[in-house]
Amino acid sequence: MPDSFPRPILLAHRGDNTHAPENTLPAFTQAIQNGADGVELDAKLTADGRVIVIHDGTVNRTTDGKGDVASFTLEAIRKLDAGSWKDPKFAGTKIPLLEEVFESIGREKLINIELTNYYTLPDTLTEKVCELIRRHNNARQIIFSSFKSRNLKIASRILPGVPRGLLAAPGLLGLWARSFGFMFGDYQALHPHISNTSREQIQRAHRVRRRIHVWTANSPEEIHRLRDWGVDGFFTDDPASAAKALGR
Ligand code: G3P
Ligand code: MG
Repeated sequence: MPDSFPRPILLAHRGDNTHAPENTLPAFTQAIQNGADGVELDAKLTADGRVIVIHDGTVNRTTDGKGDVASFTLEAIRKLDAGSWKDPKFAGTKIPLLEEVFESIGREKLINIELTNYYTLPDTLTEKVCELIRRHNNARQIIFSSFKSRNLKIASRILPGVPRGLLAAPGLLGLWARSFGFMFGDYQALHPHISNTSREQIQRAHRVRRRIHVWTANSPEEIHRLRDWGVDGFFTDDPASAAKALGR
């Protein structure tokens, strides 16, 4: 990860999802305007193999459509309104292609691409995302993350220089990932849930020269606590208030 970034790195979770519809271009541009060092997004494949950005396995919650993301072609999914559910002023906002996010963010800020093919494995999401990064020549601004180690293994084979963060689910479900999975795997960072983050865990990761990026920190108390523990970065739903809490 480039040393030029401030510590802790402030990443907008699904963009600035407090003030704009999550995982859309308005959310990403607003995140940067509101002081984020970068954005986190959820990448998935359409039925015809295009990389788009949406969190859930269905379009039901965040668009005016219904059905599994994987059942839509790009043309069909682009007809959906991904903005009105948040606020009528975002009517007509589309589910973005990953390439469009690259274009709108520019080359300076970080982009954490979460590989979220959790409902469609095995597929070629990771290979396709790597191909787009190669074509765009922007590997130096990317961090990969996933709850599935398989995705991160594929990414390390294709683009070994791009840092990889292993996501760990909260509680017992993520116990293996937070311990053996992370320590014996080929990862530059652990991405634990805030409820499973401690000062000792951050120190352990630093002893082996790895990083901890925590999801999701929103209140000033959480942000101050993580900063005081020496966290390397965190994901936040509201970059403007997180930046304020950090005195930026
Ligand atoms: O990367 C942190 C966070 O995005 C992981 O959970 O469900 O919001 O993608 P989720
Ligand atoms: Mg995510």
